[in-house]
Amino acid sequence: MTNLHILTHPLIQNKLTLLRDTRTNNHKFRLLLEELTAFMVYEITRSYPLREVEVVTPLERTTGRVLDVSIVLVPILRAGTGMLGGVLNLVPMAKVGHIGIYRDPKTLEPVEYYAKLPPELPEAQVILVDPMIATGGSAIAAVELVKREGARRIQFLCLVAAPEGVEAFFEAHPKVPIYTASLDRQLNEHGYILPGLGDAGDRVFGT
Ligand code: PRP
Ligand code: URA
Repeated sequence: MTNLHILTHPLIQNKLTLLRDTRTNNHKFRLLLEELTAFMVYEITRSYPLREVEVVTPLERTTGRVLDVSIVLVPILRAGTGMLGGVLNLVPMAKVGHIGIYRDPKTLEPVEYYAKLPPELPEAQVILVDPMIATGGSAIAAVELVKREGARRIQFLCLVAAPEGVEAFFEAHPKVPIYTASLDRQLNEHGYILPGLGDAGDRVFGT
């Protein structure tokens, strides 16, 4: 699992623990999710390319460096939209696509119901965001969808992943890195992550 990156920064781990806590209400959950996502984005953008530009300070002309990559951010509806603000706080220039996928509660199979993606996908660094990788079905389907639309550089950002889902993901997409705050223990018989944080969509939206 060399493409699995667990982000162990203390601020990330601290906020993840608050998110797991059943006493954290929807309002607090949304705030924490945005803050935590921003810390994670800070980590996963470390290797992004820069180019030199001329900049005039109040005192003189000098050379500065700016990001040399276009970024397309793709949250997976619904829960992924809870991470959107956190990413955009750090990379406000990103274009945003949306993919609608839900997991059938009986079969646990992913069901695609919406896709709207910007045309820049082939040249862009694509960041797919969803708080949970459980069976991996939704994440696998989302990566297939953006690849079909031409995406070549993809990062998958989530909060919590289950070993079963990560294994299935890398079988399908071995070259797409996953960034997560935690690799949890296992899935339960209903496909929920243990210890996990519950149903991410319900906790974000209060449903
Ligand atoms: C959750 C989560 C992932 C998916 C993970 O979404 O946000 O998209 O489950 O499960 P998987 O790895 O087994 O596919 P859910 O299906 O509950 O939809 P929602 O975000 O609309 O609530
Ligand atoms: N989806 C969630 O939101 N939580 C889980 O634990 C599994 C799938």
